[in-house]
Amino acid sequence: MITRVFSGIQPTGTLHIGNYFGAVRNWAAMQDDIESIICIVDYHAITIDVDPTTLRQATLSMATDLIACGIDPEKTVLFVQSDVPEHTELGWILGCVTSIGDLSRMTQFKDKSSKQSFISSGLFTYPVLQAADILLYKADGVPVGEDQIQHLELSRRIARRFNSRFGEFFPEPQQVVGEKGARIMSLSDPTAKMSKSAGETHYVGVMEPETSIRKKVRSAVTDMGLESGDAMSPGVANLFEILELSTESTGQTDILENLRANFAVGSLMYSTLKDAVFEQLMEILRPIQEKRAKLESSGDVIDMLRSGAKRARIMAKETIAQVRPLVGLGTDNP
Ligand code: TYM
Repeated sequence: MITRVFSGIQPTGTLHIGNYFGAVRNWAAMQDDIESIICIVDYHAITIDVDPTTLRQATLSMATDLIACGIDPEKTVLFVQSDVPEHTELGWILGCVTSIGDLSRMTQFKDKSSKQSFISSGLFTYPVLQAADILLYKADGVPVGEDQIQHLELSRRIARRFNSRFGEFFPEPQQVVGEKGARIMSLSDPTAKMSKSAGETHYVGVMEPETSIRKKVRSAVTDMGLESGDAMSPGVANLFEILELSTESTGQTDILENLRANFAVGSLMYSTLKDAVFEQLMEILRPIQEKRAKLESSGDVIDMLRSGAKRARIMAKETIAQVRPLVGLGTDNP
């Protein structure tokens, strides 16, 4: 049984529907039943070159997005990672029980480093900080999309190695991955996951204007038309998945059923599917966008984040105070 969940999101680029369906909506759904801690990971964001002013704005903007998506700062401990510097202390300690071999196997590092001219050591040790994020709160569940599974496996290995050296201390965190939505694909290259970094045409932003979303969905890559009984192409399957996730929330599942039936007999017009995806998606995104506009004008978000950081820091300090003597650090615990 999971008792405490932790998850994080990078404040780079805009929040897209992959983040929303793969992670954020699950965080919002869990917060009533499970103690939830959600962190905007700005220490992670600086592993690649980012302008300081842009980072600060993006951090605040991401917090506003998350609250608009239903993360309630009264229920969830929502905070900015660097407001709790204990993350870095535990990150250093855990780095000392992490092997270079394990880090070299991380596919996200291979991916991200291939796009950088300057590859920082922070980018390489990024998964150690991610393990620290989770273990600092002794979280046993981590709701994420599929792309984080390898990092989570490493987090468990790190916890195990720490425990075997210093005594049983950290729980081994389990990933909590939704049955649907864990891997939303790019609209213009449906063989790759939807991501912020691939470029404008690849993703739909949660806060994007309606006209631009319509255009992107209409231009989504499908195929040249299939015969009845053919397997679904990746682009069409992705649109159906987005439609299924959207109609689950709007309750209009008959739209999905009809289009599926049309597909099965080979009479589906992709333009009809795309229109349905756009309309159902907007039913979800419109209220989120409206809530965001209100929040932004209220100017309350910074205070919410500060109070979240206070709550997080109490837990973080407690863990660090226990870890230091276990490892033999400092003069305050002779
Ligand atoms: P990030 O910021 O890339 O993504 C945030 C969350 O969104 C999910 N996600 C997706 N889900 C479905 N389809 C997609 N196309 C898609 N793209 C992204 C991600 O799986 C993630 O859950 N390393 C993390 C941040 C992090 C973290 C942590 C997460 C730092 N510390 C501790 C969990 C626990 C990251 O870069 O996520």
